Amino acid sequence: MPDFEPRILAFACNWCSYAGADLAGISRMQYPPNLRIIRVMCSGRVDPVFILDALSKGVDGVLVLGCHPGDCHYISGNLMTERKMRWTKELIEKTGVDPRRLRLEWISASEGERFANTAKEFTDLIKKLGSIQKEEKEKIFSELKAAEKVADESRVRILMGKERELVEEGNVYGDKSTQEDFDRLMKDILDDEHVREKILQIAKEKPLSVKEISKRMNMPSQEIGKHVMWLRHKGKIALHGIKKRSPLYKTVEVPY
Ligand code: FES
Repeated sequence: MPDFEPRILAFACNWCSYAGADLAGISRMQYPPNLRIIRVMCSGRVDPVFILDALSKGVDGVLVLGCHPGDCHYISGNLMTERKMRWTKELIEKTGVDPRRLRLEWISASEGERFANTAKEFTDLIKKLGSIQKEEKEKIFSELKAAEKVADESRVRILMGKERELVEEGNVYGDKSTQEDFDRLMKDILDDEHVREKILQIAKEKPLSVKEISKRMNMPSQEIGKHVMWLRHKGKIALHGIKKRSPLYKTVEVPY
């Protein structure tokens, strides 16, 4: 696709990368015009939901730019960003989208050239990957919407925000988690929440039995039944009749 001009969103920290981008402009350094820059006060302000929402709306790539480790104006905002971006990539991968569409870079206020080079390299990579809308557009966007909801789940948010504290400092009782234990727990939670969001998407269209859902998701009925019970307990899915002695479930629409 030679004429493809990707749409790229760059979240840039006010104190470093945004000034770096400014320096690149003042110094008349050339970089592709595909970037739309959003200034944030710290890279730690960039929520995984923002990234997944952007991708689900057709943005082809997202750059998150922050201060170098040790230089964050809010002490550890960028260290938290690093951990959050790792899990955001994990969620992106689950949707079938190439996780390289998200990149985190540290760029200081004096690194105009580094900003211009990062913009060029990333734009070239996204051009190679092609448009995010290239195939199975509807399927990919609904997968990204499901991933966005997972990132917005309270236990996912809490764990993402507390990872550094739990691994490096310990909980209120001083108990530390090893990185391996934390990763295992987080991966399990992301898997569970992802399956639940998919069930909610499928059962939104019409009432379905556990067997029908499991067939559509290509997963064992026993596994789906367990998640359906959890969703019912949380009031996210409700019983909607019986067909051939099988209960039918439908997603509960949340009014805004
Ligand atoms: Fe720049 Fe935190 S202030 S990353």
